[in-house]
Amino acid sequence: MIETVEKFVGEFARSLQAETFVKMTLGNYHGNDAHLQKILIRLIETKKGARLFFLFRQDTRDTAKNFDFAEGIERVKEFLGKDFFSGHLFTTENDFQLEIGKKGKSRLNTGKPTFKEKPALEHDREKKTLVNQNAFYLKALGITTDKGEIRDKQRDKWKQINKFVEILGSLFDKSELRNSKNLRVVDMGSGKGYLTFAAYDYFKNTRSINVEITGVEARDELVSIDNDIAKASEFDRLKFVKGFINDFDLQDVNILIALHACNTATDDAIFKGIKASADLIVVAPCCHQEIRPQIRAPEMLENVLKHGVILEREAETLTDGLRALLLERSGYATKLFEFVATEHTPKNNMIVGTKRKTALDGEKINEQINQIKNFYGIERQRLESLLNENENLDNN
Ligand SMILES: C[S@@+](CC[C@H](N)C(=O)[O-])C[C@H]1O[C@@H](n2cnc3c(N)ncnc32)[C@H](O)[C@@H]1O
Repeated sequence: MIETVEKFVGEFARSLQAETFVKMTLGNYHGNDAHLQKILIRLIETKKGARLFFLFRQDTRDTAKNFDFAEGIERVKEFLGKDFFSGHLFTTENDFQLEIGKKGKSRLNTGKPTFKEKPALEHDREKKTLVNQNAFYLKALGITTDKGEIRDKQRDKWKQINKFVEILGSLFDKSELRNSKNLRVVDMGSGKGYLTFAAYDYFKNTRSINVEITGVEARDELVSIDNDIAKASEFDRLKFVKGFINDFDLQDVNILIALHACNTATDDAIFKGIKASADLIVVAPCCHQEIRPQIRAPEMLENVLKHGVILEREAETLTDGLRALLLERSGYATKLFEFVATEHTPKNNMIVGTKRKTALDGEKINEQINQIKNFYGIERQRLESLLNENENLDNN
């Protein structure tokens, strides 16, 4: 090994032992991976103790892996001079900058430390909110900084995550699930996974429930990143699968979640939850597009609904109102209330269905649904179609 690289790796190992390590970056990549750009290394606290977390930064996505110290040091040794040709090590005593030239010429500069204090590890700080602000997944998802502070641009998201966990916890406590030691949750349209991770962390670590959560998401790249972060967080029973909601084979579920699943994807999710007899169904619909073009304004409302903005709101209200009625027709008690605003929808309903012990009069609810549809000239509503088709199948 080149002498300067040996020295650099030696300083890295020493900083880990002396607990002065802050972070490290490997850059100037010349390896075979067309997408890899650099590796960012920092310390995280896991159940097995402190680990080195390697974030492999690629042009379109990141992947992550954690190693114990010996393994991590070995990896850095292997990478330098072969794939990566620069290294920047930050310790609380010194900064070290390694540059390896083409012909094996190299330089190691030592400078004053940029950081005089180590970043606190996850367990070092107190919990102030329902969501554990120091959790690693929040850093990996870019909600918090390396130091565990909420990023300015993520404050709304942070508020939403906390509100969601608060609502979920309260719904759980008020439901028949309240004494469950095991819980199966499915999050349909999990996206970047903020809320899925928060739900897992809450049930598993705050409530000590043996929870299993599956996030279902159509976008492959999000599934892959989220699975890496789940692994690095040691969230063993949290997994993300690529797929469409209506193709997902949902058999056994206690809580069905679908937050901001666009347009009729929310209907697909509610239908799956009803079919699997989920105890709780929690959805926050967005992008209501199905009903608006169908509405034929009744004469008495013509001059009201001629305004696009009113028509839009009416369509949203009718869509979510019909969804709630269809849940009731399917044996669920419902609540509909405002959830926090998001980048997807400024006004944001949340519909919650809790499985009832005794069903309501389905015929009566059906009558109401038909009256509303007739009044507005609505011909199709996705959830209703799915439920009716399913009923026809069951009857044949
Ligand atoms: C607006 S994002 C919301 C993500 C997350 N649930 C949240 O509230 O932060 C909606 C996500 O649902 C996914 N999605 C939409 N329709 C879907 C479908 N039919 N099946 C699976 N995923 C879907 C999209 O790819 C997107 O990532």
